[in-house]
Amino acid sequence: MNETDKRYIEEAAAHFKALLTEQLKRQRKMAAEAEGPRDFASMEKIVVGICPGDGIGPKIMDQSLGVLKVLLEEELASGRIELRWIDGLTIENRLACGKAVPEDVLAEIKACDVLLKGPTTTPKGGTMESANVTLRRELDLYANVRPVRVPEEGIDWIFFRENTEGEYALGSRGIEVPGELAMDFKVTTDAGTRRICRAAFEHAKANGKTLVACVTKANIMKKTDGNFSRICHEVAADYPGIEVEDYYIDIMTAKLVNKTARSRFQVFVLPNLYGDIITDEAAEIQGGVGTAGSANLGDRYAMFEAIHGSAPRMMEEGRGDYSNPASILKAASMMLSHIGLTEKADRLADALEACAAEKKVVITGHPDGATGYEFAEYVVSKL
Ligand code: IPM
Ligand code: MG
Repeated sequence: MNETDKRYIEEAAAHFKALLTEQLKRQRKMAAEAEGPRDFASMEKIVVGICPGDGIGPKIMDQSLGVLKVLLEEELASGRIELRWIDGLTIENRLACGKAVPEDVLAEIKACDVLLKGPTTTPKGGTMESANVTLRRELDLYANVRPVRVPEEGIDWIFFRENTEGEYALGSRGIEVPGELAMDFKVTTDAGTRRICRAAFEHAKANGKTLVACVTKANIMKKTDGNFSRICHEVAADYPGIEVEDYYIDIMTAKLVNKTARSRFQVFVLPNLYGDIITDEAAEIQGGVGTAGSANLGDRYAMFEAIHGSAPRMMEEGRGDYSNPASILKAASMMLSHIGLTEKADRLADALEACAAEKKVVITGHPDGATGYEFAEYVVSKL
């Protein structure tokens, strides 16, 4: 071992020590400080931050705001709801500031109660973290909730993806011996796992669901996924009448394409990266990632977004106007339900489902299909 090797190892060990210290602190804080959900009903005013994002983001956001303004006419007029535009979460501004989420933008976001967000571009490689990952961490949005429904097949799934840990917690802070090896870290804390499992079981209980599938790869990731599964069973003990079944992620991805087996699943709870992957698969089964919405829930804040990316190719090819606002509209419906406007949330969800079933206006992402504007008009006609 030469001097350079020794230096790399020492630096990496010091880096690791700092990471472990920080993560342990985070787990202790979490274990000590669960706030519980907010009471939106008692709030005179709810501020909804609007972050359009990059690529097709501003296009689909425009269309969904068009729909929201019709749906929330009274609440906007009375001032109960404010839609507050937040500029600056663009890739140009983020690169110029050298920050995944510039501090002034984060401060504006934190002054809101909930957030509706378009997709944000993440630069590949380099050290800049994804804006999503930063926001999820900074706002402590620990539950990524993604429903997928295919009524004609009896599919009614809801995914509770852990949203602040796993491979994502330190994904931009791995170590490397250039040209020789690289290591990233995966973190699972007990408090972090317990709260996502609790959220999944609480949802199951409140909605009369009887089966929670806990999806890991605990046969390989023995510490992190092993703990996730163990804690999930501990939490399950508090919910008699709700069964928990363990699955490994590989077989679960297979089960989801098995038409005779898949409709029995109800609630899924899973670590971050598996949740990321399998929710794209599930959304595809529903009709594409453009059709699925996503809620990122914490105790204090909540962020609602499309599950797809910013589709830069669509913009480069001049197809932005043909992008599908259905995903962000689904997210908007989840947001309305979260802030207690259940009737409006259901009206929007039902309108979207009616549009998907009736298919009078179909978006293909190309000029042979409808524009996002035409689709939004169609949704408004079904409200
Ligand atoms: C998602 C996305 C994000 C993720 C990206 C944009 C960082 O794929 O919300 O599923 O990996 O979580
Ligand atoms: Mg994803």
